Amino acid sequence: MRVWVASRNPGKVAELQALLGAGLDLAPWTGAHLAEEIGATYLENAMAKAEAVRAQTLDWVLADDSGLEVVALGGRPGIHSARYAGLTATDGENRARLLGELEGVPAGERQATFVAVLVLLRVGHRALAATGTASGTIAETERGQGGFGYDPLFISDELGITFAEATASEKAAVSHRGRAARRLLAELGRSGGFDPLRQGG
Ligand code: IMP
Repeated sequence: MRVWVASRNPGKVAELQALLGAGLDLAPWTGAHLAEEIGATYLENAMAKAEAVRAQTLDWVLADDSGLEVVALGGRPGIHSARYAGLTATDGENRARLLGELEGVPAGERQATFVAVLVLLRVGHRALAATGTASGTIAETERGQGGFGYDPLFISDELGITFAEATASEKAAVSHRGRAARRLLAELGRSGGFDPLRQGG
């Protein structure tokens, strides 16, 4: 059974495919998506994204809502991470804004947490959700070429390098999305939902 990924973010889709693709037949949804994220929490936004696609298919739908919470900024940009530098902001513009906001903040006060919430839905089934977090600090300049989004600025506490300097599997082992994905699989196993996902191709 196919699982559609309700995301237009190619970085996220690639990570989700690497994290969950061995057990689930994931494919990016190419039809209409939710235009805006209007919820007050990651979970509300992930549910809304999944619902928008679920309304168009009888298949399973997977959605991710994630963000970066910076202690020195009172938790911002948080659920607004994708639009931090404006509605049509690029990843580079969002990173530039983050560096600007943290200018003058010393190395010891640049702690941050990445949060990801994954939701798996299918019409007639109970929704499954899982959260993962990763802690780190915000670098003073960009480092590394891998990943996407804020990765060149996020120095993982566990890896000691930025997510953009890490290999995909190093990042997956400690990332918010990796942790949420592993919890979602465990939740799916507990709910007995794995078999239906594998039936019928
Ligand atoms: P949304 O979940 O589509 O609202 O967007 C999440 C925002 O957080 C985007 O700006 C992403 O680039 C950023 N983000 C989420 N996860 C990661 C990650 O693993 N690395 C870097 N940036 C991320």
